[in-house]
Amino acid sequence: MNNAIGVFDSGVGGLTVAREIMRQLPNETIYYFGDVKNCPYGDKTKEEIIKYTDRAVKFLIDKGVKMIVLACNTATAAALDYLQDKYDIPIIGVVQPGARRAIQATENNKVLVLGTKFTANSKVYDIEIENINSEILVFDKACPAFVPFIESEGNLDKEATKNILKESLNNTSNLGIDTVVLGCTHYPILKKDIEEYYGSSIKVISSGREAAREVSTVLGYAKLHQKKLNKKEHKFYISEASENFNNIASKWLNKEITAEVVEI
Ligand code: DGL
Repeated sequence: MNNAIGVFDSGVGGLTVAREIMRQLPNETIYYFGDVKNCPYGDKTKEEIIKYTDRAVKFLIDKGVKMIVLACNTATAAALDYLQDKYDIPIIGVVQPGARRAIQATENNKVLVLGTKFTANSKVYDIEIENINSEILVFDKACPAFVPFIESEGNLDKEATKNILKESLNNTSNLGIDTVVLGCTHYPILKKDIEEYYGSSIKVISSGREAAREVSTVLGYAKLHQKKLNKKEHKFYISEASENFNNIASKWLNKEITAEVVEI
């Protein structure tokens, strides 16, 4: 089926998932929506997050997408069930794939999830992981400084990044964990620095790869795969002009991207 896959995030974070979908499923077209105007979502209430996510999902559905990926852990935690009930097309989030990756990765059954305030407070990873493997101990740590830093800093300064990691991740390496889950899709943009912070004995994982695999499974099951390379151009929409979005998108996806500003 020649329709695009809708990928949504509050900002640039979902590009880390979009890139993985593009890599694993090169026949597919992506329509991406970044709600930069309302970013960050992590400090908002459940009702607000549902309202903003629903608006963006409706926009993508009106563009004719065949499925939606909530490439945002916060939106997944707050709005996935609501949206799955509301709309007929397949909608998946990133928490379940992230939880599965964590279960595969940990050897000592101690996992730390880094996320936004909303994601950490929701304990959504604890619930997903416990549903599959109740022997795993999950710690949650909110890092509210990360998303505004990534969204506002085109060229993430090495020293500034180091300082922000030191302040935010204080006291987390002594928890006895062997795996850190990047439970916010923005964080893979800092993955190398986070890996450096924790050192080689702790694995740092993200949900992008597993989420892309789930997209493929859902498309296969619903017979919605795009079979031939006759796809359309990927499209990028943002809710407010943002040079930073274009810069990060171009860098992350390795081609010049100018997102279209839309009012929704
Ligand atoms: N990328 C979003 C996530 O995965 C960031 C949330 C935010 O806007 O605070 O949670």
